[in-house]
Amino acid sequence: MRAPSGYLLAARYRLVEPVGRGGMGTVWRAHDELLDRDVAVKEVRLPTVLDEELRAELCARTEREGRATAMVAHPSVITVFDVVTEDDRPWIVMELLRAKSLEQLIQEDGPLHPRKAAEIGRQILGALRAVHAKGILHRDVKPSNVLVTEDRAVLTDFGLAALEGDVSITQAGIVLGSAGYIAPERVLGSKASPAADLWSLGATLYTAVEGRGLHGRRTAAAALAALTSGEPIPMTKAGPLAPVLDALLRIDPATRLDSVRASLMLTRVAAGGSAEEPLAPRRPSRPTSAIPMPQPPFVRRPAHRGLHRADPPAGTVNVPSPRQERKPGEGVHRKRVEPRPAPSAYARFKATVIKLCLPRRFWPRELRKRG
Ligand SMILES: Nc1ncnc2c1ncn2[C@@H]1O[C@H](COP(=O)(O)OP(=O)(O)O)[C@@H](O)[C@H]1O
Ligand SMILES: [Mg+2]
Repeated sequence: MRAPSGYLLAARYRLVEPVGRGGMGTVWRAHDELLDRDVAVKEVRLPTVLDEELRAELCARTEREGRATAMVAHPSVITVFDVVTEDDRPWIVMELLRAKSLEQLIQEDGPLHPRKAAEIGRQILGALRAVHAKGILHRDVKPSNVLVTEDRAVLTDFGLAALEGDVSITQAGIVLGSAGYIAPERVLGSKASPAADLWSLGATLYTAVEGRGLHGRRTAAAALAALTSGEPIPMTKAGPLAPVLDALLRIDPATRLDSVRASLMLTRVAAGGSAEEPLAPRRPSRPTSAIPMPQPPFVRRPAHRGLHRADPPAGTVNVPSPRQERKPGEGVHRKRVEPRPAPSAYARFKATVIKLCLPRRFWPRELRKRG
């Protein structure tokens, strides 16, 4: 049963209104009356008939979610404030984001522009790298677990997260992950791994740009055929993101794109370049990375275009990335092309001696060119 609005949790958090729903329950906007600030409270919904073992498992799951997130301080990892057990069920108190989930964004606005999807991917990959560095696996990366605010993308719902090598919840026989977002090797029974989280990120970004998931009725068959035959997965709207998605969605985790290269490629696409080539040097950029809103059909621009513009085009949305912020005047500067210095007196003397003493075929190439 869902708690009524106005319910006071732990004599401190007043539930105001639901802001989201997921597989595990309701997320509320609530007011922390002690610190006088708004927070988000996830109310875990428990089935009415539930054996003791499963109830204990779900409480443990929520505590694990709290612990896993609390281990990592990162702008793209949701901040958890508190975990409470009350009314015989677990609750999780976290920062409240004025956000839409990526799933909502796709449903409401259609497929995302590849640059915007790349920027979201870059930030979520940053979150994954931070959690992986602590030995935590998320295991449920998918569009409904990515929250997008005005200025950042945040990975949430660490309910299935586990420390690498932890077998407890697999033993409980609970199905982990969501169709279309679980890496193929995990479907076949392999243990979760950082590479499996990267596959899920690839599947999430695929849905973001293509507007449909790999599990869709038509796409699933095509994707499976492509994955098993090694052919590229059919993509029509991914544009410059296509090579990144192809490399993240490799069926064999050993040949899958690693997080360092993925980060580099996503950064390039998010900045308006191509995944494979480094960006040309550009003028000190504006403090935010302005990401054009979807302009279907996607037209690929030559790599040099768009990099010299000072102003963002109309209809852009800003997703500043904390690490890209620069102070005015600081940044990448155009390399000045210096005129070639005139040859020194010694060089001119050496050239004359060579010309006088040696047949032309023995002259250095430089001299032959000058004549
Ligand atoms: N901290 C938050 N701030 C605002 N909305 C949130 C927050 N956390 C979750 N939501 C919303 O609630 C939905 C479900 O949250 P999630 O943690 O994924 O729950 P579940 O474990 O039930 O899937 C999300 O898709 C999002 O729309
Ligand atoms: Mg969720």
